[in-house]
Amino acid sequence: MNETILHMLRDAPGGFVSGEAMCQACGVSRTSIWKHIKDMQDAGYNIEAVRNKGYRLVDAPDLVTAAEIREGLSTTLLGQSIVYRETIDSTNSLAQQLALGGAPEGTLVIADEQTSGRGRRGRQWFSPPHSGIWMSLILRPELPLAHAAQITLVAAVALNQALSRATGVQAGIKWPNDILFNGKKCCGILTEMHAEFDQIHHLVVGIGINVNVAQDEFPAELEGIATSLQAIRGERIPRAQVVRTVLEEFEPLYRQYVLNGGFGTLRDAWKANNITLGRHIVAHTARGDIEGLALDIDEFGVLLLEKADGEREKIYSADITV
Ligand code: BTN
Repeated sequence: MNETILHMLRDAPGGFVSGEAMCQACGVSRTSIWKHIKDMQDAGYNIEAVRNKGYRLVDAPDLVTAAEIREGLSTTLLGQSIVYRETIDSTNSLAQQLALGGAPEGTLVIADEQTSGRGRRGRQWFSPPHSGIWMSLILRPELPLAHAAQITLVAAVALNQALSRATGVQAGIKWPNDILFNGKKCCGILTEMHAEFDQIHHLVVGIGINVNVAQDEFPAELEGIATSLQAIRGERIPRAQVVRTVLEEFEPLYRQYVLNGGFGTLRDAWKANNITLGRHIVAHTARGDIEGLALDIDEFGVLLLEKADGEREKIYSADITV
């Protein structure tokens, strides 16, 4: 019901919505409407109540609740079901549980704060309250297992395009899936999978975006390597709008990935958003460090390196330094 009320307040032509109109729209009593308004005020919404006029939304807090994200969301799959938590250990963990319990494809799990946010390779992901986007999507693509890891590359393209469209920040993808601005990381992606034999049961694509984290708020070990959209733009960025844009950019790319059986047709889009190719890089692989010029990625998302001796190496999985 809060969603209906919020929508009416946002849409009101003269600013005010009568209590009566809300009662009719929600099918509840005046007292119930008043209680909901009170709940919203407690959550930080500045709602003015004027006798004989009704209620007016003066100001809204920067929240990533389901109601805020749904406001104007134009997707038909991603985010049709939204699970919001104020605090959670990890949205990826909750998404995994929900997926095993049958949550529909496209379900978005999002939290204001994570207490044990996870990064790649067992690292922690700094996820303080009120300042980031910590979200996970449940996907159920009917694709062979070999294509599963490529979803991360697809998500990276969506994320980079979304940052540009929603905030004007022109960042770039560091292979395979970090989003960097001026050499510092502002977003990361952690894909986890549940599969059997050659069948993907579900994927959980976890996305972390440092939105309004002040540069000096990062822990010491991240200070020189992490950044946020606020630090880049020099102003606070409303988070719900960024979430919507991520979902809207991701949806058509995801459909293409499923329809065309993998990453192949999205390779050009990845290249257009990357900051890796054409640079001298070091790939930290399980076989040790491999240095060379990043030449290309193939239709499976594998990185091709040319070493100083002219020999070419395929990099399937690595952390890279650009
Ligand atoms: C990385 O770059 O190491 C990946 C970071 C992924 C962080 C996100 S935040 C939302 C989701 N939940 C998690 O615990 N991790 C991912």
